[in-house]
Amino acid sequence: MSYDDAISALSNDALRLVKDGSVIGLGSGRAATALVKSLSTLITLKKYEIKAVPTSLQIKLVAEDLGISLVESDQVKQIDVVFDGADQIDPQKYVIKGGGGALLRENILFSLAKKVVVMADKTKFVKNFTRTVPVEIHPLARSSVTRSIANLDGKAHLRTLDRGYPFFTENGNIILDCDFGTIKNPKALTQKIKQIPGVLESGIFLRKPDIIYRAKTNGKFDIL
Ligand code: A5P
Repeated sequence: MSYDDAISALSNDALRLVKDGSVIGLGSGRAATALVKSLSTLITLKKYEIKAVPTSLQIKLVAEDLGISLVESDQVKQIDVVFDGADQIDPQKYVIKGGGGALLRENILFSLAKKVVVMADKTKFVKNFTRTVPVEIHPLARSSVTRSIANLDGKAHLRTLDRGYPFFTENGNIILDCDFGTIKNPKALTQKIKQIPGVLESGIFLRKPDIIYRAKTNGKFDIL
């Protein structure tokens, strides 16, 4: 049994929240991809009419290949349940997201969701956040936001692709991966980051998940 087995087992468990007629939010990344594959099997077996809202082209392509009906977030008033992965999760259930660059649309879906389900392997669970915080910003605010992050005792690194070109999000923006060392107060830090002009989204989400699945390497999982 492997991590992938655990993710697909927990996906099947999490899908109990899906009903006929549900509007489902699809996060991005590996865990969300595993979930979408199980979702497609469920839809076929139960002949459910489901609409899914993607958070990125990555997950949209996966869902499209599996024949899942898609709508955009501006076409729905509410989402019944969002399924997503995370980059780090702390004991207060704050999550860091945006490792794949889809944080802006992911946070919009979190805000529209009646229920948010996050799925992650046990390496993502930490006592305090230690990884860099992805911050999506307008390209013209790069220098000013970098200085503002320094005023918050952070060090901003422009996210780049392998050959050094800047990484552009699907929204035409850039990402600063900001190192704050150990983060003791994620909520206060996020509130400060979000006040900086030119910042479009911070990777620490203030909307906490309702259900968190923790996948183990032995193929099992638990629910927090
Ligand atoms: C996408 O921008 C991210 O928020 C992902 O949801 C996050 O990086 C988790 O991805 P994995 O499930 O691939 O680890």
